[in-house]
Amino acid sequence: MTFSPDFLPHRPRRLRVSGPVRSLVRETALRPANLVLPLFLLEGATEPREIPSMPGVFQHTEESLVAAAREAAELGIGGVMLFGVPLHKDATGSGALDPDGVLSRGVRLLREAVGDKTVVMADLCLDEFTDHGHCGVLGADGRVLNDETLAVYRKMALTLARAGAQMLGPSGMMDGQIAEVRSALDSEGFQDVSLFAYSAKYASALYGPFRDAVNSSLRGDRRTYQQDPANARESLREVELDIAEGADLVMVKPGHFYADVLRRVADVSPVPVGVYQVSGEYSMICAAAANGWLDRERTVLESLVCLRRAGADVILSYFAVEAARLLRSPLPKELEEFSL
Ligand code: PBG
Repeated sequence: MTFSPDFLPHRPRRLRVSGPVRSLVRETALRPANLVLPLFLLEGATEPREIPSMPGVFQHTEESLVAAAREAAELGIGGVMLFGVPLHKDATGSGALDPDGVLSRGVRLLREAVGDKTVVMADLCLDEFTDHGHCGVLGADGRVLNDETLAVYRKMALTLARAGAQMLGPSGMMDGQIAEVRSALDSEGFQDVSLFAYSAKYASALYGPFRDAVNSSLRGDRRTYQQDPANARESLREVELDIAEGADLVMVKPGHFYADVLRRVADVSPVPVGVYQVSGEYSMICAAAANGWLDRERTVLESLVCLRRAGADVILSYFAVEAARLLRSPLPKELEEFSL
């Protein structure tokens, strides 16, 4: 059978002829409830400080943190992920275990302000608290020690659970961290605190602006614990291990450069899959939009819908509030494909 303009039975364009037809057959939708907003609390801050490499993102004061979380909750955002920026750091990251430390204080405030409207999550990692900037404790030779770090994570998990965190995000890429944290939580009756495991986390250049956001003092790199960008197979292994260890959700991070990994994980995961659209992804879009090279609103919404299409149930994004605001307002014709 030869097809010609006289006989062309398959015309995919028929499903694109009008807005209503396109809407009818649209596969993927973006909902504020699937978005998580990362937030930074700066210890002792008296004014919110805009992060230079992340325009529109702030190191918050306690007051502005609560205001930002309230706004997110009112817009229907599914969760907030809190990072603490302490004033004092030391070799073992002891500030992470302080029940009155910046992260615990922030969790307590968020839980009280928005805990019944959205999910209060806290980052579980030492890098914001160590003076060397690594995600764990170091041995005499400067290597990041796995098992010694796990002992600290256990204590940190309990500190954050006692402060009221409803979900913890272990992001340090230590082997066995999910099992250790799960058992620590269960041993003190925190069975209902869930774990959003950063399972497939790559040693990526895209975390650059985040290092500004948390005043990171990292020397060296994280290549002995975060994954090689050239590998995909080990992500499946990491995900499998985390699920076996008790992860409630798994995550792929960063997002766009790793959409293939996200798809592969989503195809096999029996638990919900998250993705983190990281600081560098945010900053690239902001910078291009500020130059007039990209249409900001379209690019933001397209970036998020594409991560959903690639398999993400949940997206952590610095655009969460901006996107939710757009989705809640009547969308102009140029943004029709994102309407709820
Ligand atoms: C580690 C952590 C990092 C990010 C989230 N959790 C930094 C890193 O691994 O170097 C990066 C997030 C981003 O870039 O937006 N606690």
